[in-house]
Amino acid sequence: MNTEQTALELLELEQIPDTAWELLREGVNSARSPLHTPCLGTLGANGPSLRTVVLRHCDEPQRLIGCHSDGRSAKVREVMKEPQASWLFYDRDRKLQLRLTGRVTVHLEDGFADRAWANTRAMGRACYNTTTGPGQAVPQPATAPSRISAQEEEQTARGHFAVIACRIDFMDWLLLSAKGHRRAQFQWRGEAWTGQWVSP
Ligand SMILES: Cc1cc2nc3c(=O)[nH]c(=O)nc-3n(C[C@H](O)[C@H](O)[C@H](O)COP(=O)(O)O)c2cc1C
Repeated sequence: MNTEQTALELLELEQIPDTAWELLREGVNSARSPLHTPCLGTLGANGPSLRTVVLRHCDEPQRLIGCHSDGRSAKVREVMKEPQASWLFYDRDRKLQLRLTGRVTVHLEDGFADRAWANTRAMGRACYNTTTGPGQAVPQPATAPSRISAQEEEQTARGHFAVIACRIDFMDWLLLSAKGHRRAQFQWRGEAWTGQWVSP
């Protein structure tokens, strides 16, 4: 067992939320972190709808996490209709599962989305410069999008870009351990997290 795993096992209940946010920050900043690619759950027309996304935002004081997406995608339509989302993270090395839920805001043409767009790379931007939206039928698989070269293309891509931001108000922490699994749940109570250990 590695020392980091032991450190997580020694956490007191009230230390867990800050630790979770620390790991989420690492998830944004490091593509190698398993928390970089969570599963985002929304409520679709046919029930729960899940997909992998890249974690792009983490703001502990605001309790916000978020990802980037195409504004034409099903997930954006779904959260606009039902603005609740669930996020699932699993870190195999740390033996940690983290489940978060909260209320979603979609940012399309505001300052939040502008700032996020300013931080995207050329390759990322090119993905939004498409005439067909995600999930639309196409005659054959698309070729890789080419880099944006004209102002007009940049505007098209920016017009499709969206940030899905979620204000977290519930956390479920599950740390697997041979000494006994440690599971805790936390609810945001307006000013602080209120938590309790629960049976795994
Ligand atoms: C590793 C990985 C990372 C992904 N990251 C994103 C992402 O950050 N944003 C996104 O919209 N789709 C991302 N996708 C694609 C989604 O999983 C999904 O296929 C797509 O967004 C359409 O989902 P929807 O129809 O539910 O909107 C990613 C897929 C994989 C496999």
